[in-house]
Amino acid sequence: MRFDERDLWLDELLGLPELPADLPGLPPGTVPYLPCDVAAVVRTVREAPVTAADVFIDLGAGLGRPTLLAHLLSGVRAVGVELQSHLVDHARTAATRLGLDDVRFTVADAAAGDIPEGSVYFIYASFNGAALARVLGALERIAARRPIVLCAVGFEVRESWLRERRSASPELVFYDSSR
Ligand SMILES: C[S@@+](CC[C@H](N)C(=O)[O-])C[C@H]1O[C@@H](n2cnc3c(N)ncnc32)[C@H](O)[C@@H]1O
Repeated sequence: MRFDERDLWLDELLGLPELPADLPGLPPGTVPYLPCDVAAVVRTVREAPVTAADVFIDLGAGLGRPTLLAHLLSGVRAVGVELQSHLVDHARTAATRLGLDDVRFTVADAAAGDIPEGSVYFIYASFNGAALARVLGALERIAARRPIVLCAVGFEVRESWLRERRSASPELVFYDSSR
């Protein structure tokens, strides 16, 4: 099975719709919705690693593909944080339909610094520039209280408090907090 076919198959299984339009009037520079490949999520669960003892947070969760899949693969408690409420409605419907009590979605601006406490953070290129800097600042404050792993898909960061760990895939980099 090719990966794109697997992605479509998974979305059908999860009951997720095809690409919904982004809301008009999003703040300038907001990254629009595009789902991450299933392959990157599977690799994250294996290599981060993500276990049932973790709390997995997807910042900019879209329809919830990584949040739902990480939970289904590992049993992890999973939270998706997403700016666009209509995407969260779909994600919540999918979690309810599948009876997943340990998966939760919240409508929030992650760049405003209101980020739930977790142990594994997943970001698929959801932020740029000042928004990314604010998200990293919030993660650094959380990492001062507990170790975290940042799983970055499609972007790289350089922060003194993060140690880079390359994955087997060039699009995915893990960062372990060092505070
Ligand atoms: C590239 S998509 C990734 C979606 C999801 N993580 C996935 O991999 O399937 C980026 C998402 O981040 C959301 N987003 C952008 N800025 C955000 C912010 N400040 N707070 C919360 N979500 C945000 C967008 O609405 C979009 O759904």
